[in-house]
Amino acid sequence: MNWNSFNKSLSSTENQTVTSKGKRVFLVITAFVLVLLLWLVSPFLIHRYPIQYANIDEHFLYGSIGGEDSDGIPYWIIKVLPEVFADKLPGEGYTSLGFIQEPDHELPISFVRSTTWFGLEVVTENCATCHVGTLRSSPRDLNPRIISAMPGISVSLQGFVRFLTESAADERFTADNLMPFINAAGAHFNPLEKLVYRFLVIPKTRDELLELRHNFSFMDRQSPYGPGRVDTFTSYKTRRYGFAVDKLVDSELTGISDYPSIWNQEPRKNLRLHWDGNNDDQSERNRTAALALVSPTTIDLDSLERIRTWLNEIKAPPYPYAINSDLATKGKIIFDSNCAKCHSEQGSEIGEITPIKEVATDRGRIDSYTYELASNQNLTFSGITYKGVDQRFSHFKKYNGYVNGLLDGVWLRSPYLHNGSVPTLRDLLNKPEARPKSFYRGYDVYDQENVGYVSIVSSENGKDFFFYDTKLPSNFNGGHLYGTDLDSQDKNALLEYLKTI
Ligand code: HEC
Ligand code: HEC
Repeated sequence: MNWNSFNKSLSSTENQTVTSKGKRVFLVITAFVLVLLLWLVSPFLIHRYPIQYANIDEHFLYGSIGGEDSDGIPYWIIKVLPEVFADKLPGEGYTSLGFIQEPDHELPISFVRSTTWFGLEVVTENCATCHVGTLRSSPRDLNPRIISAMPGISVSLQGFVRFLTESAADERFTADNLMPFINAAGAHFNPLEKLVYRFLVIPKTRDELLELRHNFSFMDRQSPYGPGRVDTFTSYKTRRYGFAVDKLVDSELTGISDYPSIWNQEPRKNLRLHWDGNNDDQSERNRTAALALVSPTTIDLDSLERIRTWLNEIKAPPYPYAINSDLATKGKIIFDSNCAKCHSEQGSEIGEITPIKEVATDRGRIDSYTYELASNQNLTFSGITYKGVDQRFSHFKKYNGYVNGLLDGVWLRSPYLHNGSVPTLRDLLNKPEARPKSFYRGYDVYDQENVGYVSIVSSENGKDFFFYDTKLPSNFNGGHLYGTDLDSQDKNALLEYLKTI
């Protein structure tokens, strides 16, 4: 026996055992570390973007139009803000700002829950923020009918912006304060997510909301919007994307506008649209609208294309209450001789601009749309192509009047005129001195007698409606005298006919 060699072989076996043990331990530790790392980063690898719904109605209400990577607000922050800053809301939750909550959904209509490219869950907004409304037949009606593409009547976008930005400016908007609410709301973060939320997400969200607050500080120089209205163009003037203008002048800050209906776009394809007719290209109009919420580089053009096609087809809902058809037939004759040239598809002046001197309604919206903005807008989307087509805007033009538009579904577009200053169609057929000097808006119960929403009720179940004062800048309710000289029988007939179009 060669002990030496025996010893050698013994020690080498020992060595081998030690080495393979070490390797195993090393492998186990490596595997453990990998699994741990994978677990830590896994939330950032799961992508639910973009959210597209097969059903287009559902897509319009809850689908994404892009914006996750430019304008999303982290999901858990959106989730807990109403609780943390309950004192900054007029009531409970986002519905107190007029957002519509369906029973089988977690978030209100227009809140899109999706993910950024690096896996952060965010909430973005879509067209339904401003283009969906509700209708009830009486205060006892507990199931509001939700109608897409009608002018939104309940959401206070100004209220929403103020809530978010005032929360960010509050000293309670800190990770120390928000994290316990986020945990209690069921976030189940792993340690890495906790760190990311605490040191990146919360501070960055706060910074961005403070920037938004700065960009929207022009609102302090304006009349309150209330629900269903927004200053269409001033917010673009303070934003990036090359829209920004040099200076915001007070006389150009009175363009608060009512949301229009956006159904039945087919016959409107090449008409000038927007209240002042500043654009006659459908795709540009839709993309401009989307830019209220997303940026030109993150916009989801496929999603927008689906919405565009659908909006071409859907029709205004028919008037759901009784119609006296004999009276409506008489009314059609009155419409044909007093209104059709400007408002019917065959009208000689449909899609034309009626100069402000003639229509004589509030001129603020026209003044807010400046030559400088039009030329800046026409630089937007340069360098971006979709299906081989250059997306750069080129159709924006400034006019000095309001456009003669189609009146389909006009029964559901109350309050009337571009600034929402006249509550019902009956009021619009009255001389300006006889139109209500103030009224309430935001209520969704219908007034069949006057054709429009009920506008004399100040609150329901503790919810206050918006007091609309026609004496404030932007809110002038005069002008559009067409039909105001008709006798009351003819007015009744015309109103009956207006229910049918
Ligand atoms: C922030 C609220 C808001 C959002 C969100 C919004 N819109 Fe609008 N939309 C408006 C307002 C206000 C106008 C009227 C603009 C004006 O002329 O002052 C308008 C006008 C329009 C028009 C022209 C209608 C007409 O008859 O003049 C179309 C079409 C339209 N929007 C489609 C969309 C689409 C599609 C989306 C989603 C991509 C969208 N909008 C998102 C507020 C909004
Ligand atoms: C010379 C063209 C012209 C004639 C004639 C005319 N209108 Fe208008 N109409 C307009 C313009 C322009 C506007 C937009 C004014 C504004 O919003 O400031 C408008 C707005 C309206 C609106 C508001 C639409 C909305 O969505 O808020 C209604 C309703 C309306 N007209 C009904 C009528 C009726 C009814 C007649 C006939 C008695 C009539 N118009 C005659 C040009 C006309």
